[in-house]
Amino acid sequence: MLPIRPIRRKFVYLATVAILIVYCLLVFRPGMHTYSCSTVYHNGFNDTSMRRCRYVYLDLGSNKGVQIRKLYEPWLYPEGKILQFYDKIFGKVRYHSRRDVCTFGFEANPRHMKRLKYVEKRYKSYDINVTFFNNAVSNISSESVTIYSDTNFDIDWGSGIHSSLIDNKTNMTIYEVQTIDIVKFFAENIVPLKPEYVFAKMDIEGSEFIVLPHMLKGGLLCDHTISSMVLEMHDRVREEFQSDLSFATLKERLKDQACTPTTIHDLDDETYTGDVSFEPCEKESETYNTF
Ligand SMILES: *[C@@H]1O[C@H](CO)[C@@H](O)[C@H](O)[C@H]1NC(C)=O
Ligand SMILES: *[C@@H]1O[C@H](CO)[C@@H](O)[C@H](O)[C@H]1NC(C)=O
Ligand SMILES: *[C@@H]1O[C@H](CO)[C@@H](O)[C@H](O)[C@H]1NC(C)=O
Ligand SMILES: *[C@@H]1O[C@H](CO)[C@@H](O)[C@H](O)[C@H]1NC(C)=O
Ligand SMILES: *[C@@H]1O[C@H](CO)[C@@H](O)[C@H](O)[C@H]1NC(C)=O
Repeated sequence: MLPIRPIRRKFVYLATVAILIVYCLLVFRPGMHTYSCSTVYHNGFNDTSMRRCRYVYLDLGSNKGVQIRKLYEPWLYPEGKILQFYDKIFGKVRYHSRRDVCTFGFEANPRHMKRLKYVEKRYKSYDINVTFFNNAVSNISSESVTIYSDTNFDIDWGSGIHSSLIDNKTNMTIYEVQTIDIVKFFAENIVPLKPEYVFAKMDIEGSEFIVLPHMLKGGLLCDHTISSMVLEMHDRVREEFQSDLSFATLKERLKDQACTPTTIHDLDDETYTGDVSFEPCEKESETYNTF
């Protein structure tokens, strides 16, 4: 019996080491990471000490709020074209929860508001600061404006103050909505937050031909106010707005300013337009990787 003992002892030792290794792999999962709205980060990325509204995301034309969900839950939208901008500007969610990004979303179509207010409430319950406004972004506040929208929710890409973007007018819904002067709003609500970086998205179905010149005049298209912006220009309605603004003329006018201009990208991220089936903050993930 004697010679067996050291072997058995060795076996017990090896088994213990093996079990410990398996346990560590299961618990720490090297290379794996759980992405969720409730993740709290340590190791230098301290959520509890971070400054609220260090960054601002201004979402002009929120529609169903999908671009905002891509910001806070990118693991649900791995093919989203806007993700590369979020990663570069706000940092990858691998290291950083983005609770320091405050979002202001504007949507003219009242039909989206019930959903958007629900998204807002869900995020707020996770300490994620998102606020939606049911206003048509404009160059003047508190005016009533007519908004044309497709009645069929499934084909409701966008709604605007000109009906020519609605293909089938037999099923068109008309709403009266209050305008908001975005320059005034910015000065009153965003400037006091002293954000380090403001990123904007603009997809407002032709109203950009009114709003962009107004933003230029109001000094919003400067690097120290809005640092960068992704923009979809609706060339089809340029004539209705009697505008000569295009990407080329906008770039010229940006350069003519005394300040360093906002960096503007031509982007229309039409991925996940119908949104995913998970509710905000419902689904966590271990598979998404931004590397
Ligand atoms: C995070 O910040 C809080 C409040 O500033 C501080 O009490 C805590 O020790 C910090 N934790 C880490 C891991 O740095
Ligand atoms: C949320 O953002 C608003 C600005 O819209 C700011 O006034 C407020 O302090 C923020 N709240 C929290 C809890 O960060
Ligand atoms: C037209 O709108 C109604 C709702 O008012 C909807 O039930 C119907 O499906 C729509 N028809 C089409 C073809 O979009
Ligand atoms: C427009 O919508 C109506 C119903 O709302 C439908 O009957 C008609 O076929 C549609 N026309 C086109 C060109 O899609
Ligand atoms: C707003 O834009 C419209 C259309 O370009 C223009 O007619 C109007 O004068 C502008 N109003 C202000 C206050 O800038």
